[in-house]
Amino acid sequence: MSKSKHNYVCTECGASSPKWAGQCSECQAWNTLTEIVIKSSKDRFQNYSGELDTALVNLNQVEVTAEARIKTGLDELDRVLGGGLVAGSVILIGGDPGIGKSTVLLQALASLSSTHKALYVTGEESLQQVKLRAQRLGLEQLNLNLLTETNIETILDIAQKDKPAFMVLDSIQTVYAQEVQSAPGSVTQVRETAAQVVRFAKQTNTTVLLVGHVTKDGTIAGPRVLEHMVDTVLYFEGDPDHKFRMLRAVKNRFGAVNELGIFAMTDKGLKEINNPSAIFLSRGDAKVPGSIVMVTWEGSRPMLIEIQALVDESNLGNPRRVTVGLDQNRLALILAVLNRHAGIFTHNQDIFVNVVGGVKVTETGVDLAAALAVVSSLKNKPLPKDLVVFGEIGLSGEIRPVQSGQDRIKEAAKLGFTTAIVPAANAPKKPIAGITVKSVQKLSEALDIF
Ligand code: TYD
Ligand code: MG
Repeated sequence: MSKSKHNYVCTECGASSPKWAGQCSECQAWNTLTEIVIKSSKDRFQNYSGELDTALVNLNQVEVTAEARIKTGLDELDRVLGGGLVAGSVILIGGDPGIGKSTVLLQALASLSSTHKALYVTGEESLQQVKLRAQRLGLEQLNLNLLTETNIETILDIAQKDKPAFMVLDSIQTVYAQEVQSAPGSVTQVRETAAQVVRFAKQTNTTVLLVGHVTKDGTIAGPRVLEHMVDTVLYFEGDPDHKFRMLRAVKNRFGAVNELGIFAMTDKGLKEINNPSAIFLSRGDAKVPGSIVMVTWEGSRPMLIEIQALVDESNLGNPRRVTVGLDQNRLALILAVLNRHAGIFTHNQDIFVNVVGGVKVTETGVDLAAALAVVSSLKNKPLPKDLVVFGEIGLSGEIRPVQSGQDRIKEAAKLGFTTAIVPAANAPKKPIAGITVKSVQKLSEALDIF
């Protein structure tokens, strides 16, 4: 019998150590070290003792097949994937339970299975449940093979014989490898099973879509390990209470990251939103303090969203700074700049900032909108309803340009906004019909609006 070695890896940063400890010595996170089993080197290298069956290949000799991208039939999914699926790639789709991972994959397989052989492996649901979902989605005449199994060796054996072009594994946390002792879903299991799946995908040129559940703190179990192994990582975002769902690429070996696909969950499954510019704007007619519209840039297109702030006198020694849909540190920075460079004091105020519609803004163009929303609420002065803003705030109170300024302004004009406050470097060279642009260099100039 071969001897296996035990090692401990940190689920946060992926650092490994030979001994268990309460705190990771690399990232200082507590209670994140988990045991993994490493096969002895004799085991691992036994294949290499005989004749080598691999050889060096010159880059010029590598042939690329013409059909490099296969469309899933869902434009928004293809957009996030960078134009479609690549044969032999492994894609991880993560997200909260109930957000729509199984639904989107079944819809994608429905379209793919009309031209390619597809296999849906589920370790979570019964065959009846999958059938019921397909019925709900109106996909009854689907030519799709199903498998309920949780042993990864069995799954891959069957797949080897069945030879599907596309395989969905729902989910990586429910499958297990025989030789690993720990429970399904543990870092050790996830690591081992994912490694087997990746090897299988590369050897057989099968495209595998893995579903990964997200833990309470928002990461996929064994996050670093998994993200390193697969080619593409997509996250489903959005508030299950809202009907909109956003699919974001956080890693993509075959396309741009931070591309965003937008869907709406309906009673007949996920519907694509091809023109999302204004879906998150649903303001009433009344002008309210603390509300402003910004144009954000997601992936390759603009989107208009509303930012709300509420500033309220605090009874706490340490006033609250709460953000939803935007980075809390970013708000702290904005408040510090408002204080130092515009004389606006908020030390004794609780501040809440919210991005409406469950959207997450990850770019710095939100700074100016957040600052104006905070000041508007603090002064209790509403901003004009036809105003849009965007721009990054620098530490010395300067307003810095953001990417695709012109396109953002054009999009706002198209949706009927008539004034824009933008960074000076983003000001359009030629006037844009229907919108008056005020370009600002300093935060204080933007605050002249009050
Ligand atoms: P599901 O894809 O099962 O989520 P996940 O696999 O990410 O856990 O989606 C389940 C949710 O979606 C559930 O709350 C019901 C809802 N849903 C609809 O609203 N319409 C539909 O047509 C389907 C299939 C699901
Ligand atoms: Mg599911």
